[in-house]
Amino acid sequence: MTVTKLAVFCSGNGSNFEAILRAIRKKKLQAEAALLVCDNPKAFAIKRAAQANIPVVVVSPKLFDSRKSYEQFISRILKNQKVEYVVLAGFMRILTPYFIREFKGKILNVHPSFLPAFKGAHAIRDAFEAKVNETGVSVHVVTEELDAGPIISRQKVKISRQDSLESLEKKIHRVEHILYPAAIQKYIQKGRK
Ligand code: GAR
Repeated sequence: MTVTKLAVFCSGNGSNFEAILRAIRKKKLQAEAALLVCDNPKAFAIKRAAQANIPVVVVSPKLFDSRKSYEQFISRILKNQKVEYVVLAGFMRILTPYFIREFKGKILNVHPSFLPAFKGAHAIRDAFEAKVNETGVSVHVVTEELDAGPIISRQKVKISRQDSLESLEKKIHRVEHILYPAAIQKYIQKGRK
């Protein structure tokens, strides 16, 4: 059986990328992280990839005259490498309909809220400031509507009165690191049937 090839897209720290690599090593996720795609040359995720011997493509959107030509460039690389799934892990750019159609049903995202609550780029802060007593983590398929594609897995996270924004972030990340690799495995396994 051929191994399912993933490209992981990151913009920053890459702790979810690391969790995915760990799940692959432990064979909990039956896939290969074929490539890290990064839009930010300063992202710590690049160091994580280097340590794990994963090829990295750092492409700055500033080099392109449109978002579509940027994505066409990346898409060509992914198709060359026979990447089947795109896994967004803290990739802070909104993909255009062009790219989403190129990899229709094959792009997954982890979002730090219990969707549909708190969509957008600052979901943890938004939930904290809204003083709600729970938020969560969601893994979903990426569609053209932001943070609104079919949900693969979701888990609630309690916000206690003692929580600071930092402690809440830590709680959410801990849940993401377990939920995301498991959801990827569940989704790609379904795709094999
Ligand atoms: C994660 O919390 C992820 O859910 C969030 O960025 C963080 C990346 O952390 N993504 C979004 O907010 C997307 N809208 P990481 O780089 O340590 O994996």
